[in-house]
Amino acid sequence: MHIFQKAADLRSHLKTILRERRSNAIGFIPTMGALHEGHLALIRAAQADGCYTVCSIFVNPTQFNDLSDLDKYPRTPEKDAALLAKVGCDVIFMPEVEEIYPPGAIPDFEIDFEGLDEVMEGLFRPGHFKGVAQVVKRLLDLVDPGQLYMGQKDFQQVAIVRHLIRVTGFPVQLVVVPTVREADGLAMSSRNVRLSPEGRRLGSVIYQTLVAAQSKAMNGTLPGEISREAMTALSDAGFEPEYFEIVNSETLQPVQTMLEAPQVVACVAAWLEGVRLIDNMTLK
Ligand code: PAF
Repeated sequence: MHIFQKAADLRSHLKTILRERRSNAIGFIPTMGALHEGHLALIRAAQADGCYTVCSIFVNPTQFNDLSDLDKYPRTPEKDAALLAKVGCDVIFMPEVEEIYPPGAIPDFEIDFEGLDEVMEGLFRPGHFKGVAQVVKRLLDLVDPGQLYMGQKDFQQVAIVRHLIRVTGFPVQLVVVPTVREADGLAMSSRNVRLSPEGRRLGSVIYQTLVAAQSKAMNGTLPGEISREAMTALSDAGFEPEYFEIVNSETLQPVQTMLEAPQVVACVAAWLEGVRLIDNMTLK
C-alpha cells in the first residue's frame, strides 16, 4: 500500500498505474478518517468492481459550520492506515490542508444546488454542502477516478455530489453503497466512538424509529403524521431530534403523500450526548 501526502506524488503514481495498464480504472473513496466497517464496505465495493483503490483521509475544514465539531472530529490516522492495509487498499492520500487549498490558488467555489442544500442538513448546517462539494470537486480533480464510491448513509450528501457531477460534467461514475449497520441497527459512523456505552445502546432507537416509519407508511399513515410521531418518539427516548423528514428522493422536498414521488426516503438527524447522528431509510 502506498501513502501519499502530496498531490503531485499521487498524480504521478496513478499515471504510472494507468500507463502500465496495471488497472483500467481508479476507484476513489473520499473519507475524513476514523474509519469503520462502513468505509471498508466502500473499499470492498471498489475492489469487487476491479478498481485500483485510492482512499483519501482529509478532515475538510470548509464543511464544518461549527468549529468545536471540527476540533472534536475523531482523528485516528495510524489505525486507519492499518485497517486500509488489512483490506488491501492500494493507495492512501493523506494531504495537509495547504495541499488541498493552496493559499491564493483555489478559485472561489460557487454552485447552484437547485434547492438540494436548503433542506434538512442544509438548514441545520449552513454552508456544509458548499464545503463538501468544494472538497469533493478538488479531490476529483486531483485523483481523476473513473468511479467514486460513497455511502447511502449520507443520503443528502450523495444527492449533492450527484448534482455536482452532473453540472460540472466530471467524467466519473458515482457508486452508492448501502449503509452498514451495527447488529442492533445503529448506522456505523465515525461519530459513534464519542458515545458512552449507554448512548451507544440508545443510538439504535434511531433505526427503530425508521423501521416504524416504514411500516406506518406501508399501512397508509400520512408522511406528516409519521414525522411528528417519530420526532416525539426520539425526544421521549432522550434524543434532541433536529428533523425527521419524509422526502422525494430526487428533489429532497418533503412529500404530503406517499404517492407524490417514485421513491420516498425518511431522513433523520438527532443529537445524543452531544453527538449528532444522521440516518435514513427508503420507505418506497
Ligand atoms: O462523508 C465524508 O466523510 C465527507 O463529507 C467527504 C465526502 C469525505 C468530504 O469531505
